[in-house]
Amino acid sequence: MSEAFVLTETHGRVGLITLNRPKALNALNDELMNQLGAALLDFDANLDIGCIVITGSDKAFAAGADIGAMQNWSYMEVYGTDYITRNWETLRRVRKPVIAAVAGYALGGGCELAMMCDFIIAADSARFGQPEIKLGVIPGAGGTQRLPRAVGKSKAMDMVLTGRMMKADEAERAGLVSRVVPAAELMNEALEAATIIASMSLPSVMMAKESVNRAYESSLTEGVLFERRAFHSLFATYDQKEGMKAFLEKRSPTFKHE
Ligand code: CAA
Repeated sequence: MSEAFVLTETHGRVGLITLNRPKALNALNDELMNQLGAALLDFDANLDIGCIVITGSDKAFAAGADIGAMQNWSYMEVYGTDYITRNWETLRRVRKPVIAAVAGYALGGGCELAMMCDFIIAADSARFGQPEIKLGVIPGAGGTQRLPRAVGKSKAMDMVLTGRMMKADEAERAGLVSRVVPAAELMNEALEAATIIASMSLPSVMMAKESVNRAYESSLTEGVLFERRAFHSLFATYDQKEGMKAFLEKRSPTFKHE
C-alpha cells in the first residue's frame, strides 16, 4: 500500500487536506499529487462540504516539485508523459472554494499550488518563492502566469529571475495573500474563514467563485455579462428567497444549499 502523503478530515462543512511528507518538506511527487487530486475531487463531489482548506506543516506548505524525482528525466519523460503537470490541472476543476493555509516554505510548485487555490491565508512564518531558476529551469505549474497576475510584472520578474524568497508581510503588501496571522493562529483563522464560506448558500458560493475567476479569462464586458447571468440564475434558488426573507425578518437564514 502506498504511503498516505495526504491526510483528510472534516470540520463541519469544511474539508481539510493536510500535505504529509514531512521528511521532504512536502515535496510534491507524483503520488502526493495523485492523492491530493483524489481528495479534492472527493470533497468537491460531497454536497455536505462547502469549502476546502489545503495546508502543510509548520515548516513547509510545500518546498516544490520533487527535485530528486525530476533530476534524471529526459525531455520525453517530461513532455511526453506530462508527469509534472498532469495532476496539477485537477485543482482547476474544483468548483468549491479552496483556501491555502500556508506556514513555512511555499516554494516552486508549493507556491504555485498555493496560487492555484482561491485565496491564501499566511502565517507570519510563510516564505514564498519561485526558485526554479537556480535549478536551471523555470516554474512549470503556472508560476510565470499567476504570479504576475497576483503581484504585478515587476515583482514577479524579480521573484522568477532571482529566485529570492518573499516573506509573509511582503506577500501581503503585494496582494499575493489575503491575510497574515501569527503562526499559532493559522489553522483557527483558515478554518474559521472556511466555516463562514461553507455556511453560505452553496450555489451562490460556487457562482461567486466562477464569476471572480472569469475576471482572469475574459474582457470586462464579457465578465460583467457572465456575472449578470449568474446573478439572475440565483433567483431560481430556494436560498435566495430564504436569504432575503431572513434579512427582512431580522433573523439568520437557514440555507438548504439549493
Ligand atoms: N524536492 C525534493 N526534496 C526536497 C525538496 C524538493 N523540492 N525540498 C526539500 N527537500 C528535502 C531535502 O532534500 C532534505 O532531504 P534530506 O533530509 O533527505 O537531505 C529535506 O527535504 C529537508 O530539506 P533541507 O535539509 O534542504 O532543509 P533546509 O531547512 O536546510 O532548507 C529549503 C529548506 C530552503 C526549502 C530547501 O530545502 C530548498 O531550497 N528546497 C528546494 C526548493 C526548490 O528549489 N523548489 C523548487 C523545486 S522545482 C519545481 O517546483 C518545479 C515546478 O515549478 C513544478
